[in-house]
Amino acid sequence: MTLRFILLGLAFSHATFALVSKDGVTGRLPAMGWNSWNEYECNINEKVFLTVGGLLVSLGLKDLGYTYVNIDDCWSDKEKQRDNSTGRILPDFKKFPQGIKHTAEEIHKLGLKLGIYSDAGSLTCGGFVGSLGHEIVDAKTWAEWGIDYLKYDNCAVPDEYDDEYRWWPENWLGGPPAEDQTAGGDGEARPVPAPAGYDWTTSKSFDRYKAMGDALAATNRTIQYSQCAWGHAHIEQWGNSTGHSWRMWGDIYPQWFDKWQWSWGLMPILNHASFFYSETDFWGHGDWDMLEVGNGNFSLEENRSHFALWAALKSPLIIGTPLDGIKPEILEILSNRDLIAFNQDPVFGAPAKPYKWGVNADFTWNQTHPAEYWSGKSSRGVHVFALNTLDHAATKKINFAEVPGLDRHTKYTVYDSWTGKKQGRFQGSYKAVVRRHDTMAIRIVKANGNHTYS
Ligand SMILES: *[C@@H]1O[C@H](CO)[C@@H](O)[C@H](O)[C@H]1NC(C)=O
Ligand SMILES: *[C@@H]1O[C@H](CO)[C@@H](O)[C@H](O)[C@H]1NC(C)=O
Ligand SMILES: *[C@@H]1O[C@H](CO)[C@@H](O)[C@H](O)[C@H]1NC(C)=O
Ligand SMILES: *[C@@H]1O[C@H](CO)[C@@H](O)[C@H](O)[C@H]1NC(C)=O
Ligand SMILES: *[C@@H]1O[C@H](CO)[C@@H](O)[C@H](O)[C@H]1NC(C)=O
Ligand SMILES: *[C@@H]1O[C@H](CO)[C@@H](O)[C@H](O)[C@H]1NC(C)=O
Ligand SMILES: *[C@@H]1O[C@H](CO)[C@@H](O)[C@H](O)[C@H]1NC(C)=O
Repeated sequence: MTLRFILLGLAFSHATFALVSKDGVTGRLPAMGWNSWNEYECNINEKVFLTVGGLLVSLGLKDLGYTYVNIDDCWSDKEKQRDNSTGRILPDFKKFPQGIKHTAEEIHKLGLKLGIYSDAGSLTCGGFVGSLGHEIVDAKTWAEWGIDYLKYDNCAVPDEYDDEYRWWPENWLGGPPAEDQTAGGDGEARPVPAPAGYDWTTSKSFDRYKAMGDALAATNRTIQYSQCAWGHAHIEQWGNSTGHSWRMWGDIYPQWFDKWQWSWGLMPILNHASFFYSETDFWGHGDWDMLEVGNGNFSLEENRSHFALWAALKSPLIIGTPLDGIKPEILEILSNRDLIAFNQDPVFGAPAKPYKWGVNADFTWNQTHPAEYWSGKSSRGVHVFALNTLDHAATKKINFAEVPGLDRHTKYTVYDSWTGKKQGRFQGSYKAVVRRHDTMAIRIVKANGNHTYS
């Protein structure tokens, strides 16, 4: 890729990345934290964030790595927008009576970090002022306030910033994805497909996201940069050169299958992920959107599958449920050490990948029954995730010969990631009953105790 991280002396050769991650740590692994949108939408104020900060600490979530407290949309003054002499965005002082800087100071006192939200267009998705054309002043303002993370959305893009060619993955009607299926959903005219080999870094989307990345890099602060461009303009091909993570798809919604307005249930998102996982590695992460674990009307099993698969994909793990009064079973899911350890592994940067589809033939594009069998290596073994997409319990068999890194001759010790318990020693295969919409999550190590996999 275009970024180069020169280890010795933590010197960076690529200006954009070097400066965004000037501490040499931020953004190497998927971000973990909490964000207000999924549960509070615009109904936010300073108290919401300070309460969450306190709870991240007292519930033990901070110690597990959840350190970002992220303000989403609706934090600024909707009418005044900017100070007309300095051009700075004005906070809504009704919601943040002492300003955002004060919120940042309070969050920092807890040993946590504060995130903020803006948009690479003229307005945010909620109609508040956006940052397009104001990148430098906004980045400076946030740095001075002590902001540590920016989620940068993609609404209200003026016509003159439209991309020449369109790649909006959530508009596909059929599959598997191909370059000539750039749109067509929702009654929109199908635009001219991009020519073969088109360089998406020449797109206006790239320019809009890079402008903010450069502005953040030019500040005297490390600000993690979460590019919420919904997979448009093949951001997975260039997002690592402009920021730390990139949204791959439209918004998530706490349902299994269905689409609601522009928001999607888990299975359609996972179907896309079944094809588009390979650009994620250290420093750059495909973002499958914030967690809905604990929201809406998932079953316990669906809550578990959501967390396991997002951890497996090395997506940022950003909690989207209120922490006050959180149910113990939800806290337990979000606190799963084995799954977090996979997501945050310091040695293996790649996500889990499908090694078999299951219900459907391999590489079937299907928004209700995506790939079910996933595996990935960590410094603690080979992890396998087997999702049951069916509406009834099913036995899932893991044939070791099919799993990259395993073979059918070796004896392995299998651990259940949900309970942390040793399941025993197995050769050839391992099987278990997986309930409707649940996910088997296991960690497999050589029975001789050598957990190191090359
Ligand atoms: C992103 O860039 C860094 C620095 O060059 C590189 O180490 C890493 O592998 C890249 N990550 C991805 C996901 O391409
Ligand atoms: C700037 O804002 C102030 C206070 O909101 C207002 O009184 C003043 O008229 C504005 N000036 C201009 C030039 O818009
Ligand atoms: C940048 O931040 C560092 C560390 O906080 C500080 O020592 C330095 O003076 C700052 N530089 C500028 C130009 O603000
Ligand atoms: C799963 O999360 C939902 C919200 O999505 C919550 O209401 C429900 O209690 C959870 N299920 C169980 C059985 O814990
Ligand atoms: C809960 O699920 C039902 C159907 O399973 C759906 O109609 C309803 O909209 C869902 N409610 C929420 C809040 O997601
Ligand atoms: C998706 O896969 C399921 C399971 O094979 C199948 O029943 C369903 O018809 C498929 N959906 C589409 C749209 O092909
Ligand atoms: C463990 O396995 C790795 C990879 O197969 C190998 O390089 C290493 O030497 C082994 N270590 C021990 C202590 O057997």
